[in-house]
Amino acid sequence: MVQFKIQNLAFKIKHPLPRSHNILPLRPMQNKLPHDEIVPFKDSESTKKKQVAEMFNQIAFRYDFLNRFLSMGIDKGWRRKAIRLLKPLQPKRVLDVATGTGDVAILTWKMLKPTEIIGIDISEGMLDFGRKKLKTKGLEKYIRLESGDSETINHPDNSFDAVTVAFGVRNFEDLEKGLREMNRVLRPGGQLIVLEFSKPKTGGFRNLYNFYMGLVAPQFGKLFSKSREAYQYLIDSVKAFPEGPDFITILNKTGYCDTAMKPLSLGICTIYSGKKPSTPVSS
Ligand SMILES: C[S@@+](CC[C@H](N)C(=O)[O-])C[C@H]1O[C@@H](n2cnc3c(N)ncnc32)[C@H](O)[C@@H]1O
Repeated sequence: MVQFKIQNLAFKIKHPLPRSHNILPLRPMQNKLPHDEIVPFKDSESTKKKQVAEMFNQIAFRYDFLNRFLSMGIDKGWRRKAIRLLKPLQPKRVLDVATGTGDVAILTWKMLKPTEIIGIDISEGMLDFGRKKLKTKGLEKYIRLESGDSETINHPDNSFDAVTVAFGVRNFEDLEKGLREMNRVLRPGGQLIVLEFSKPKTGGFRNLYNFYMGLVAPQFGKLFSKSREAYQYLIDSVKAFPEGPDFITILNKTGYCDTAMKPLSLGICTIYSGKKPSTPVSS
């Protein structure tokens, strides 16, 4: 079993965590990460956020089917493994950011039975499908899906025990802003779980993966969702995303402690976790 890699102490000494989330230095806008600039519609003048919402609105009707089909069902296991990490915390209030059609919110309810789960997303099309699923499953009482942006979360400071994001952070217009905002709404000691695509490192498997992602997946994606852009965007954004230790560095920088990562399925996907410090850290 792949072991959790805890970030080494040397990093923490070199980059002490800020005293509390509300005095985090704000990152100047011009410091955007390269992946923040990857957009679905290259000729569009709209912001990345508007383009991402538009793209997910377009593919919402096929999203669940394509997820299962293109990942050959493995995505369900990835989500389950990520949510299982929250078991020791026994969270009562959970926020699922970039909830899409609500799969993580629904699975979190089944596995952890918190008292309340709120899912937020910028795509009304995805949320509509999610709400229909909740109705069919009779879960509307426990899970609420709201229109909402990860970079300006419409909830008070310290209001959630846990925050989850599956395949969402890669799509944020401003990754660090989103991570800081999720830290703000976490209670001290609360936990963030991020699930995101990554790139396999081992030679033979990497070639197979490149073939699948470069040729097979876009063809099926285009066929079933009628959106060529969506699958090209998936490939480009996975390529540019700051994964592995780079993402851990960003988590540490944006106010998380006890950060860790766990690659899954030979590195196609990675679970990241981090906590909001329970007591202010002295610098
Ligand atoms: C690939 S889907 C993932 C959906 C779901 N979490 C899952 O596991 O299937 C990415 C979602 O992120 C949403 N998203 C992108 N940027 C966002 C933001 N700034 N705030 C909230 N949601 C966002 C998109 O609208 C889309 O529904």
